[in-house]
Amino acid sequence: MLQLSNLVKSYSKGKIRAVDNLSLSVNKGEIFGFIGPNGAGKTTTLKMIAGILRPDSGKIAINGRDLKEEPLEARRQVGYVPDSSTIYERLTGMEYLRFIADVYDVPEEKRKQALDKYLPMFALEKAVFDQIRSYSHGMRQKLMVTAALLHNPPLWLLDEPLTGLDPKSSHFLKQEMRAHCQEGKTVFFSTHVLEVAEKLCDRIAIIHNGKILAVGNLDELRNDPLLKESGDSSLESIFLTLTEKEDAPEE
Ligand SMILES: Nc1ncnc2c1ncn2[C@@H]1O[C@H](COP(=O)(O)OP(=O)(O)OP(=O)(O)O)[C@@H](O)[C@H]1O
Ligand SMILES: [Mg+2]
Repeated sequence: MLQLSNLVKSYSKGKIRAVDNLSLSVNKGEIFGFIGPNGAGKTTTLKMIAGILRPDSGKIAINGRDLKEEPLEARRQVGYVPDSSTIYERLTGMEYLRFIADVYDVPEEKRKQALDKYLPMFALEKAVFDQIRSYSHGMRQKLMVTAALLHNPPLWLLDEPLTGLDPKSSHFLKQEMRAHCQEGKTVFFSTHVLEVAEKLCDRIAIIHNGKILAVGNLDELRNDPLLKESGDSSLESIFLTLTEKEDAPEE
């Protein structure tokens, strides 16, 4: 469903290698979690998949479409929720949703269905008629989630979607992520909440310094040869062990 091959992205004229020869494959129908320390390269990777940042080299294929060769078709496959949104402050929530629905050619009936479902779910029925600049962080987040689902994308791409959401909204969002995958679609999201990743994800990748340290389901991660004490460890202890090993100076 999503193929990343040898992706490289540098900032500051090559001084910072945010993503370093990263390859990863996400299957259809999967909830895939992307975890890693601050500055590991998660947002940079997600922005490249969303078509917002251009990789220095490497390939991205979404639902069989190469992002470079078929940019419009590839981007249509994706519903992206960025980690922060400061744009379109002067629009009302509804104006923003209409704008996105127009961009993706969502028919009137489908828009209505989606709005009837998500606005009550996220308690936005009233606020949607206010300007976005009056929104709290969580309200912005929920508006972006709604916008990303309007065209029912095969790949749902979320950058730390649960940050700042109240418990109820967070519950609904997780439920929605599951439902999306049960329809045969795919979710790829970054998070720092390891309990969520552990419970929700079919597979997980740990990224550090722009490189993938480990990929797999929990059992596969536990069996990583770098983990001496294999067995029943939590994702948190796997994460800490792998990322600390990587940081430790060579002996
Ligand atoms: N616009 C930019 N200019 C220069 N360096 C950047 C820029 N954006 C990101 N970086 C650097 O690239 C690296 C990866 O950043 P990125 O935002 O992808 O990390 P992240 O895994 O999303 O971190 P976090 O968990 O804090 O969100 C970091 O070293 C960061 O400082
Ligand atoms: Mg980030």
